[in-house]
Amino acid sequence: MTQAVSTSRDGDLLIIMVNNPPVNALSHAVRQGLMEAADTLEADDGLKAGVLICAGRTFMAGADIREFGKPPQAPHLPEVVTRYERLAKPVVAAIHGTALGGGLEVALGCHARVAVASAKIGLPEVKLGLLPGAGGTQRLPRLAGVANALDAMLSGRHVAALEAAKWGVIDQITEDDLLEASKTLARTAPLRPTGDIPVDKAGADDAIAAAKSNAAKRMRGQFAPTQIIKCVEAALDLPLEDGLKTERALFQDCMANPQSAALRHYFFAERQVARVPGISKDTPRRDVTRVGVIGAGTMGGGIAMACANGGLKVMLLEMNADALDKGLATIRKNYDASAAKGRMTADDVEDRMERITGTLDYADLSACDLIIEAVFERMDVKKEVFGKLDKVARAGAILASNTSYLDIDDIAASTSRPSDVIGLHFFSPANVMRLLEIVRGKATAPDVLATSIDLAKRISKIGVVSGNCHGFIGNRMLRGYGREANLMVVEGAAPQDVDAALTSFGMAMGPLAVGDLAGLDIGYMTRQSVGRANYDTRAYDWVDELVEAGRKGQKTGKGIYLYEPGNRRPIPDPEVDAIIERAAETAQITRRSIGADEIVERCMLALVNEGAQILDEGIALRASDIDVVYVNGYGFPAHQGGPMHWADAKGLDWVLDRLKDLAGKTPQNWAVSPLIESLAKAGSSFAAYDAEKAKA
Ligand code: 3HC
Ligand code: NAI
Repeated sequence: MTQAVSTSRDGDLLIIMVNNPPVNALSHAVRQGLMEAADTLEADDGLKAGVLICAGRTFMAGADIREFGKPPQAPHLPEVVTRYERLAKPVVAAIHGTALGGGLEVALGCHARVAVASAKIGLPEVKLGLLPGAGGTQRLPRLAGVANALDAMLSGRHVAALEAAKWGVIDQITEDDLLEASKTLARTAPLRPTGDIPVDKAGADDAIAAAKSNAAKRMRGQFAPTQIIKCVEAALDLPLEDGLKTERALFQDCMANPQSAALRHYFFAERQVARVPGISKDTPRRDVTRVGVIGAGTMGGGIAMACANGGLKVMLLEMNADALDKGLATIRKNYDASAAKGRMTADDVEDRMERITGTLDYADLSACDLIIEAVFERMDVKKEVFGKLDKVARAGAILASNTSYLDIDDIAASTSRPSDVIGLHFFSPANVMRLLEIVRGKATAPDVLATSIDLAKRISKIGVVSGNCHGFIGNRMLRGYGREANLMVVEGAAPQDVDAALTSFGMAMGPLAVGDLAGLDIGYMTRQSVGRANYDTRAYDWVDELVEAGRKGQKTGKGIYLYEPGNRRPIPDPEVDAIIERAAETAQITRRSIGADEIVERCMLALVNEGAQILDEGIALRASDIDVVYVNGYGFPAHQGGPMHWADAKGLDWVLDRLKDLAGKTPQNWAVSPLIESLAKAGSSFAAYDAEKAKA
């Protein structure tokens, strides 16, 4: 018997205990242990039934993702599930925590399921670019019905035990001792192999059609959802054994698809970000219960909401009563809109509003543990605000700036306590977007950094630590990406072609539509301040002409595209095409047709080249952190893994060749990253670079 699975007798019952911390993943040892336990149960005539239960925080949370991509070792999970289903003695699965993926599939192979009320079940494989490959696609529809099964498998969501009981997946919810309740049921449980239950066909066609349309709209470009639907069709049309064969084949297709490798990379990337050298669980933290927010504009309002949502008390400061009233009214309007959509109750709205207090007086910030500044993006204004904070904030308070680009060290220098200063860069809308860039200044104290990393989790953000540089990780990389998108328009691609190529790649929005959304005047003002010698004027002269003609984007009803009142859908405008053509003539560019591949490549290569530079400079701790920034802050498709994973998937030798080619044509725009050069020459990758660094 392996250590991961142990058995004990309890009268005529066999108690099978899985113990594979942290989440009881179904590693090879667990699968083998489960097979041995099944043998024991079958062989001993004194045993009438079994209870399968897990030690630690959760029931089995799935196959062991770390084993994916390596040669599979028998016994395979589908065999384990079938072995349990076909045992001549009933086995009851006793569920606490989360029964996910392969874990739920094992439970579905058991003859009954008992769960504590707090337990959750789910088939989240779709989030890894996979489908449930151990019978889940065949057995869940048999127990839960086609519509519920499709909902669970396409969303990957965690379904509460109570809901799962209504679906027929959980037979009993217990408020008492889980093992005792499961033992009682095991003694009376009938043998009911899930696979023998027929799939209910009523309403199945409608459910399949709805799932197809949902997948086409909301999961555009993703491979696994379509395969999941095909498996459910097989469950409807074929006997169990044949359905399982179809599932197996389609599972292998998913596993071989690059999207799964990308999503698996992304799964671990998200779990790496909180690991920061020099910060551990022993690093002291500062208590944060009261937060001050300065500026109740777009960002300040959203930050106040994010903090209130996380249970913190917020003091929101503005310059004058009008701005404060407007800011508070917008916050209420946003909460009311969430309540109208059923995302929170009217009581929740009042509860959150009560946590936010408005003020015009800096003295009211003196009790705050953390103060986040979100005023205009101007160094003189930021310095003035931090100077005032230095006077009123209590000793030990953390002073944070939400600046998008400005130098955190410079801001810190306007206080007498630079070690308390940090950048907390939220993304718009700040109450929705998951990313928080945590910008460590040269003087930032370790406990300030550690507290900020914890705070990110408390307010449901994913905090990525960045060094201090112009634009930090995300916005700094955006520069080359935007330049290439704009330049290709002058070179011959229509704006809608550039956007379509990138949305087909999976970006949530195309870069030109994003420009219209953010306001073209922002970039215009930056270009005015840096001067024409400091950027490729060919890329932007046509945009500047639009701004000068009053076309600032969505807010003026027209920018690169036209907008109908109250509608955010971009409409191509022939007037803009004429401006672009004139700009090309002036720049002496002969326009040519540019394909979607080139559009995607040039935009991605710009991200990757700058990302590598950021990595080389130590601004990002690891390449995978950059991927997390792009997926959570910039609408980059997780199924492409992030820009750095995209480069690894292409191969860094290919990336280097392409970069050299681009640098040959426009040397002023492309300084090939020395890190890419050295990794490519060594036949290495960003992933290998991260792994080496983790070891060191
Ligand atoms: N395999 C291997 N390691 C896993 C794992 C898995 N399935 N699930 C979690 N882990 C690891 C994490 O990497 C992390 O390791 P670390 O501490 O070294 O970073 C550790 O377990 C704890 O995970 P979290 O930090 O995510 O812990 P939480 O408590 O926040 O969340 C959880 C727990 C909800 C179980 C979450 O980890 C999760 O969602 N896991 C993935 C579940 C999943 O996708 N299961 C399906 C797998 S695919 C499958 O089963 C295929 C089958 O159909 C054939
Ligand atoms: P905004 O113009 O919507 O809001 C700024 C608010 O600050 C205004 O309400 C203004 O009255 C107030 N303010 C200005 N000076 C003040 C002072 N001395 N004291 C108190 N209040 C003052 O601007 P927005 O977009 O919210 O940006 C704020 C900061 O957030 C900037 O640094 C910006 O770069 C950054 N940021 C903006 C993002 C965006 O998408 N808008 C995204 C991430 C960061």
